[in-house]
Amino acid sequence: MQRIFITGVSSGLGYGLAKVFLERDAIVYGISRRAPDCLIDLGLRHRCVDLRKEDVGRKAISHMVQQVDSFDLVLLNAGKLGQIRDMVATPLADIRDTMEVNVFANKWLLDVLFSNSRSIAQVIGISSGASQSGSRGWNGYSLSKATLNMLIKLYAGEQLNTHFTSLAPGLIDTAMQDYLTELPADARYAPLETLKAAKGTEAMPDGYGCAQKLVQILPNLLEKQSGCYVDIRNL
Ligand SMILES: NC(=O)c1ccc[n+]([C@@H]2O[C@H](COP(=O)([O-])OP(=O)(O)OC[C@H]3O[C@@H](n4cnc5c(N)ncnc54)[C@H](OP(=O)(O)O)[C@@H]3O)[C@@H](O)[C@H]2O)c1
Repeated sequence: MQRIFITGVSSGLGYGLAKVFLERDAIVYGISRRAPDCLIDLGLRHRCVDLRKEDVGRKAISHMVQQVDSFDLVLLNAGKLGQIRDMVATPLADIRDTMEVNVFANKWLLDVLFSNSRSIAQVIGISSGASQSGSRGWNGYSLSKATLNMLIKLYAGEQLNTHFTSLAPGLIDTAMQDYLTELPADARYAPLETLKAAKGTEAMPDGYGCAQKLVQILPNLLEKQSGCYVDIRNL
């Protein structure tokens, strides 16, 4: 039976991924601050963890996985967007907070999961096209996703028995897109118009739809070099 670990299972893509794997009878471990009661009813093993709180988080996750000696897949999905605004208008404290959730938490989390000689066959860091585009307004989010790509590459160079990918999942109709598509039109932040046009179309599936696509392309990812960045739209 497959064992999967997923961060950010309370909404959006993470919720969809956990649901898809539970429906396939996998054993799914998930964390988020909010508890996804419907998934817990389906068998999700869940802990409420705030990824900005390393000490408490390490203890909770170590305890949660202590009986597990291997994972087939770890999905580092939890993420924070922050506000769309210029760099100059973005407080450093906000960028630090985004880096904490989108990057640094994934470092200590991987260390916890790899501890006690636990083996992991595949790790996917959920990245974003924003890690490449550097579009005006995407400030700390772009910084954090570009750094996440490098974190994944660095771990790939160390953990030679694990296959790593930074995966941009394409547009997904989640809370993040609700925020983006409800912003007033602003010529400075050009991608907003593209997102507004994509909302409600096939170009922006919901979390469950995107999760189904992602699960289908898992074998394709294993053919790529470990540690590389892949955009699902280019597969
Ligand atoms: N939506 C898109 O179009 C899109 C595009 C490209 C990439 N992505 C990436 O896809 C991933 C999922 O995003 P989404 O769109 O599904 O967003 P979402 O619906 O806002 O879900 C984010 C998830 O991350 C968790 N999370 C956030 N902060 C956390 C914290 N401090 N501690 C623990 N968990 C935390 C949330 O759980 P709690 O709030 O319960 O803690 C939630 O389950 C993210 O990495 C995002 O960057 C999304």
